[in-house]
Amino acid sequence: ALVAGVCGQPIIHSMSPILHNAWLAGAGIDGAYVPMGPAEDRFEAFVNGFRGGVIRGLNVTIPFKERALACADTASDLARLAGAANLLRFHADGTITADNTDGPGMLGAIAAQAPDLAIAGCSAVILGAGGAARGAAAALLLEQAREVRIVNRTVEKAQAIADALGDVATAHGEAELPALLATADLVINATSLGLGGGDGPAADLSLTPKGCVVMDMVYKPLRTEFLARAEAAGRRTVDGLEMLLLQAVPSFEAFFGQAPPADVDVRAIALAHL
Ligand code: ATR
Repeated sequence: ALVAGVCGQPIIHSMSPILHNAWLAGAGIDGAYVPMGPAEDRFEAFVNGFRGGVIRGLNVTIPFKERALACADTASDLARLAGAANLLRFHADGTITADNTDGPGMLGAIAAQAPDLAIAGCSAVILGAGGAARGAAAALLLEQAREVRIVNRTVEKAQAIADALGDVATAHGEAELPALLATADLVINATSLGLGGGDGPAADLSLTPKGCVVMDMVYKPLRTEFLARAEAAGRRTVDGLEMLLLQAVPSFEAFFGQAPPADVDVRAIALAHL
């Protein structure tokens, strides 16, 4: 059997095993996709133990994405630019390669749900500066966004991302948010605020221009308080579930050697598990 998995801490709530195992069953592949929760201080030993191709690969989630990149021998441009990896592949020669599929997943979600937004030349505001924000910022940069403004409670973390990305990306404190929203074409919540039904980030989305697109990376609940406020302000919205589904596609291809079967309605399956 072909085996892959996802590791994070905690891992119990991960949706990835549900998605990948539904695809495996639909495609009739002899494989398994397993959730794993390594101890936080043993992550490197855990990853290195898979060298040699015992398993095909791992997806990596909170809080290990930065450390996952450091474990790899080589990494894609996007993963290096992001400073974070959510996909590790284990090769037969003992090497590990790293990639980041969060960024392409985010771009794909925007293309699907707000297709007329041009990323090239746009002004984007990213709320948050954790691993999710890193992938988003790097992907927007590679797609030629004009400005990537990273706003975070802890400005130092936003500054670290901006420094790695060059002039297009800038770091800001929450006090600057109203002015940044006023010229934004795209606003993305990459904080954990709103998860489980709480209030999202305190951003007055009615300050954004009319054509602005508002995206939430939080997908539980699907219609977050943040997205509800965006809709109330008349803004187009992109939900986090689409990004979750799309980031899983290149991982499935990397692990199992073929595209996910098109006849499995993975969005419906995910919705049933929210
Ligand atoms: P992820 O990997 O999903 O990005 P993370 O690295 O834990 O998760 O990042 C969580 C983000 O949500 C951070 O930007 C965090 O802000 P800090 O860097 O200041 O900690 C943000 N966040 C979490 N709780 C918050 C709160 N109550 N107010 C403002 N920001 C918050």
